[in-house]
Amino acid sequence: MAKYTVVTMPGDGIGKQVMPEALRLLKAVGFDAEYFQADIGWECWRNEGNALPELTVELLAKYKLGLFGAITSKPKKEAEAELKSELRGKGYTYFSPIVTLRQHFNLDTCIRPCISFPGNPLNFIRKKAGGGFEEPFVDVVIFRQNTEGLYAGVEWTNPPDQVCSALATHPKFKPFAGTPGADLAISVRIITREAAHKIAKVAFEWARKFGYRSVTICEKPNVLRETSGMMEEEAKAVAKHYPEIALWSTNIDAQTMWLTKNPEDYGVIVASNLFGDVISDAFAGLVGGLGFAASGNVGDEVAVFEPTHGSAPKYAELYPAIVNPIAMFLAAAMLLEHVGEIDKAKLIHDAIAQVVRDGNVRTYDMLRIPGGRNVIAQGAASTRQMTDAILASLGKVAEPELEEILK
Ligand code: NAI
Ligand code: MG
Repeated sequence: MAKYTVVTMPGDGIGKQVMPEALRLLKAVGFDAEYFQADIGWECWRNEGNALPELTVELLAKYKLGLFGAITSKPKKEAEAELKSELRGKGYTYFSPIVTLRQHFNLDTCIRPCISFPGNPLNFIRKKAGGGFEEPFVDVVIFRQNTEGLYAGVEWTNPPDQVCSALATHPKFKPFAGTPGADLAISVRIITREAAHKIAKVAFEWARKFGYRSVTICEKPNVLRETSGMMEEEAKAVAKHYPEIALWSTNIDAQTMWLTKNPEDYGVIVASNLFGDVISDAFAGLVGGLGFAASGNVGDEVAVFEPTHGSAPKYAELYPAIVNPIAMFLAAAMLLEHVGEIDKAKLIHDAIAQVVRDGNVRTYDMLRIPGGRNVIAQGAASTRQMTDAILASLGKVAEPELEEILK
């Protein structure tokens, strides 16, 4: 019997292309795992009216460890229109399955490392005052509260009367009170002290464990006085137990400006759901963008790791596949770290670092050319060739095949 069982959820589009490559890589570093492939995503929605089938939830509840590819999501009305005809008009509502997973299993901590690979042509560079440029080394890990805030899902267009009456008790609601319900949309930002405390605590723990000198709470407490205020308050309370780590406080808007001025100064960043989503994408842009961005959704029991990118439908049907699998590989490495297989995670990191540094094999994004059918002719590596190069750098030439792994 294998030591670990992982539920794999390739999902849609390029999720299906990068997942098999990640499994080859995990096998190549000697990860002793068996895999259960589970359905998730757009086809499930169209055929069943549920993008997250019950069986997938059961498998995750049982095995606690998931590797996710990407899914296609569409706005409410478009989603309804794509349901198979028997299901249309029956009250099915589309919810993003990854958001649902986060809430169902209380995957309250989202970890998003944004760390430069030297030699990556997509790395952020900065003009020097005296001419020339410099390439700051970015080593930032964002901790995003993953279940609350503006993504908690408590929202209405045309809110019920009780909601309007409750809101009317707040003096600042006055200007909105006369707006007809159908013209009024409300999304509620909910922060609990418990969750605010926990995300700050895991961020500080990470900083201590990996030697980061600062934790930055990135919110907007001067305007969002209650919710961001509570996030900041709890960060301050937690910081007292970590005297060796500085607590910095920035506003989300200013942070997005500073991030290109002095990204090398930041270490761990902690933020609520939406702000964490924003700032982690912003930092990811400095270290290679979607082809290099991975994240972990971690709860007390279940953890699911994923590349940050979506299903990129326009590339989903290309053969050979052209997208960069490194984001998926970094997600796989995070999974290894999570279960304590640190050496194997390091093998993956080192192999990626070597291929990036050598610069001989680059997917189209790394060549800075527009994606499309003809990128291979322009010298870009395919998804498979990138994987093979990373396997080769591990000393594992083009092995093993997926069929072998899923047997
Ligand atoms: P996307 O991330 O799928 O793609 C945006 C663009 O980024 C692509 O067209 C491509 O140019 C580039 N890109 C993405 N991944 C890449 C990779 N591995 N290598 C090289 N280039 C890459 O975002 P988009 O187009 O906004 O959304 C497409 C679908 O994915 C939508 O239905 C969206 O809702 C969904 N989505 C799902 C996410 C998830 O599964 N966690 C996250 C983001 C979007
Ligand atoms: Mg995002």
